[in-house]
Amino acid sequence: MVMLTARRYFAAEGIEIDPEAECVFFSNLKMRNGTFKLTRPSRFAAVEERIAPIIREKADRIRDVLDIGASSGLTTIELADFLQAAGAAPRVIGTDLFVKAHLVEVASGLHVLADEEGWPLQYEIAGRPLRAWVRRLDYFTLAFVPLLLGRSALRGRLRRRIGEGRSLPVRMECRALAGRKIRLVENDILVPTAEFAGRFDLVRAANILNLGYFPGERIRAAIANIASYCCGPGSLLLVVRSQGAQHHGTFFELLEGGTFAVRARIGKGSEIEPFILEHEPVCAGDRP
Ligand SMILES: C[S@@+](CC[C@H](N)C(=O)[O-])C[C@H]1O[C@@H](n2cnc3c(N)ncnc32)[C@H](O)[C@@H]1O
Repeated sequence: MVMLTARRYFAAEGIEIDPEAECVFFSNLKMRNGTFKLTRPSRFAAVEERIAPIIREKADRIRDVLDIGASSGLTTIELADFLQAAGAAPRVIGTDLFVKAHLVEVASGLHVLADEEGWPLQYEIAGRPLRAWVRRLDYFTLAFVPLLLGRSALRGRLRRRIGEGRSLPVRMECRALAGRKIRLVENDILVPTAEFAGRFDLVRAANILNLGYFPGERIRAAIANIASYCCGPGSLLLVVRSQGAQHHGTFFELLEGGTFAVRARIGKGSEIEPFILEHEPVCAGDRP
């Protein structure tokens, strides 16, 4: 499938975008921390089937839901619909480190989608889209040279133009979010957020807390933040990583003492399950 240009994707409403093409568009955006916006429609159907009995059992207590690393929000919508079908009617917030972006015209025939820091996410050259990241094959074909040179030559200019207001601000969210009550907000799971403390009955972290993305100490920091965002004993946490059509994840419940217990496993279980089971709550007296 031909990738959409960012200009076309973010063009005025009214242009119909094929959902598959929308997914391909977001999935090809690589963020400056090395993560991708990769997402797919209906990817968690099998996971949802596995956890549905527990969700149904607790449906009336699931009032606030947090979906971490929500990308364009597509699977956040699906999560909200699944919960509703299981008898819950929660408020849902999706978070992502990168939601805001900018379309910048750098020169005639050269447009760039960049993040707020001027990190290129997609080039459009003479109307054709070009990914801004280097893949392994590029090191053999030498295609990495123009990509790396282009990034370092353009980044300062992009940042300046964005700072001067010479860009079109856009939000990297799927079109289906329009008209839904789901909020997609910028937030870093590695930074404690007071506004989220003690708020959520269900937290999902799908394809974000991967050991391939973050080293162990960052995973521990994220888990401590997630635990503090849970509203108390009985809160649920779903951590899952997808490998093609396969999912490996663990569904946890927060216990009275502030530790997590396994309620269900999907596939081989989450690779970070040991980190979550080791998590110890921080008592007020222990804080520096
Ligand atoms: C692979 S996508 C997962 C999308 C969706 N959850 C799914 O599974 O289809 C990972 C997302 O995590 C976001 N992300 C990366 N680092 C993050 C961080 N520190 N805090 C919150 N989100 C982050 C990326 O921007 C990206 O949209």
